[in-house]
Amino acid sequence: MKTLQDKIIALKQKKNAVILAHYYQHKAIQDIADFVGDSLELSRKASTTDADIIVFAGVYFMAETAKIVNPTKKVLIPDENAGCSLADGCPPEDFKQFLSNYPNHTVVTYINCSAEVKTLTDIVCTSSNAKKVIASIPEDQPIVFAPDKNLGKYLIAETGREMVLWEGSCIVHEAFSLEKLIDLHKKNPTAHIIAHPESETHILKVANYIGSTSGMINYVKNTDHDLFIVATEAGILHKMQQDNPQKTLIPAPAKEDNTCACSECAFMKLNTLEKLYNCLSDESPEVKLEQDIIEKALLPIQRMLALN
Ligand code: 13P
Ligand code: SF4
Repeated sequence: MKTLQDKIIALKQKKNAVILAHYYQHKAIQDIADFVGDSLELSRKASTTDADIIVFAGVYFMAETAKIVNPTKKVLIPDENAGCSLADGCPPEDFKQFLSNYPNHTVVTYINCSAEVKTLTDIVCTSSNAKKVIASIPEDQPIVFAPDKNLGKYLIAETGREMVLWEGSCIVHEAFSLEKLIDLHKKNPTAHIIAHPESETHILKVANYIGSTSGMINYVKNTDHDLFIVATEAGILHKMQQDNPQKTLIPAPAKEDNTCACSECAFMKLNTLEKLYNCLSDESPEVKLEQDIIEKALLPIQRMLALN
């Protein structure tokens, strides 16, 4: 009998579709994807694919970005309710109003925002190229950075640049408990703590390495060390462990009172294998954007892609 995986593969071939998945997706989705990556790598893949259909197994702003960079393709998302606290916490109208207080500022937005917010942006960044993006802006030019205040604070500390920050945050990365992390490290004193820059400053201060999801995966692979405490969404452990079967990876502990109860992104986890099959079969839900939004949102993404 054919498994759901077999059916997805057959349908994908028949329809000339490609499955792009983020590292935070369920294992079963990562295993069936044509490409698994961080948000920068996924947007690059989306821009260059010659498939007719892109099935984007990630959150909505990522699928929207795929549509913006390759608008002639049909972009599908297994669950269109897969939001993101950063994107949802920065409504375009409010952001427009906020920006009116900062004329002449260069507007840098983290890719975790809506297509409409991207149309209000000068240059987009991801967690893997944010420092490079900031360095590309003339020293005397004031900057507004949105929507992630934690990534923004990290960038201010790293680059020495003053920036006006939007007050957004990731509910998953804000849920790590410093107290519990320190306790865990006391029990595993040789462990390297690795963290995503969406985490709060006090978590980043105790980290041996800070980087994007791909950055963390490469760090674990390329470091001559065998014990790590990983402060990011737990889905990343699948690929990390596959790449390093002999190394020990411990997820960083979350606060007891956090909204997601663990370090899993409830939005990312809305996508399931069943929904992926159905969306490919029905060619729905499809990401649709108006042409003028695509054109305006593409410019700041292209500026970012041109830098790397
Ligand atoms: P990456 O850019 O590292 O893929 O991160 C995306 C994200 O949503 C992290 O929460
Ligand atoms: Fe958004 Fe946080 Fe989920 Fe990433 S982990 S998609 S930033 S809510």
